[in-house]
Amino acid sequence: MIFDTHAHYDCDAYDLDRDALLQEMHASGNVGLILNCADGIESCHKIMDLCDKYDFVYGALGIHPERVEELTDENLSSIQQMATSNSKIKAIGEVGLDYVNGGDKDEQHKLFIRQIGISRELGLPLVIHDREAHQDTLTILKQEKAWEVGGVMHCYSGSKEMLRQVFDINMHIGIGGVVTFKNAVKVREVVEALPHDRLIVETDAPYLTAVPHRGHRNRSDYIAYVIEQIASIWNVSPEMVENITYDNGKKLFKI
Ligand code: NI
Repeated sequence: MIFDTHAHYDCDAYDLDRDALLQEMHASGNVGLILNCADGIESCHKIMDLCDKYDFVYGALGIHPERVEELTDENLSSIQQMATSNSKIKAIGEVGLDYVNGGDKDEQHKLFIRQIGISRELGLPLVIHDREAHQDTLTILKQEKAWEVGGVMHCYSGSKEMLRQVFDINMHIGIGGVVTFKNAVKVREVVEALPHDRLIVETDAPYLTAVPHRGHRNRSDYIAYVIEQIASIWNVSPEMVENITYDNGKKLFKI
């Protein structure tokens, strides 16, 4: 079974068929677990409901760097409260730095540091968003002792040379649909260099859909294409990659 460690089923893109889609993927036996990640305060509330409704859906709460305007004491304490009150909240995320679409850099840094603080206080791993901000992301994670809780570099876009620094701070690597894209040579090199115990798989649904469905709305069972690609790089069976990533995800998020 698949563990999709990063999806956004709280998104509008699923408003018309969310329930049918989630039930279908789970009932077919293809998708065993989903970690639904937040992108802001509104999304956190929706995720609390999804966790209540579906036993196979777990949650990560946090404020995305594209929403720095949500950095207030009130919002952060509400995230802390929600995460404490619900045992299905297994991570803080997605949080991090985005130097393409994110807001003011100083504000992003403040927001990131505060949320690493929450994750350490609650003992929850981090789901990290890092877009064109590799060095600053790693520096802040290190400074703020993120290795104590660990986590995942979601949709990893760094180099294979950078992996050592990532492992030094106790992070896993999240690989999704991008690995199937024709021009994603760098990501395939990363997969080739990855120790098996550091890999988890993800969709980032509704975004980043794997080939052959690229450009369409993503869904967790499409991770099968990601797993196939990884299996061919590692020269092992897809079943083996599915099992390894399922177990790695469960261990990391303590499910
Ligand atoms: Ni995401």
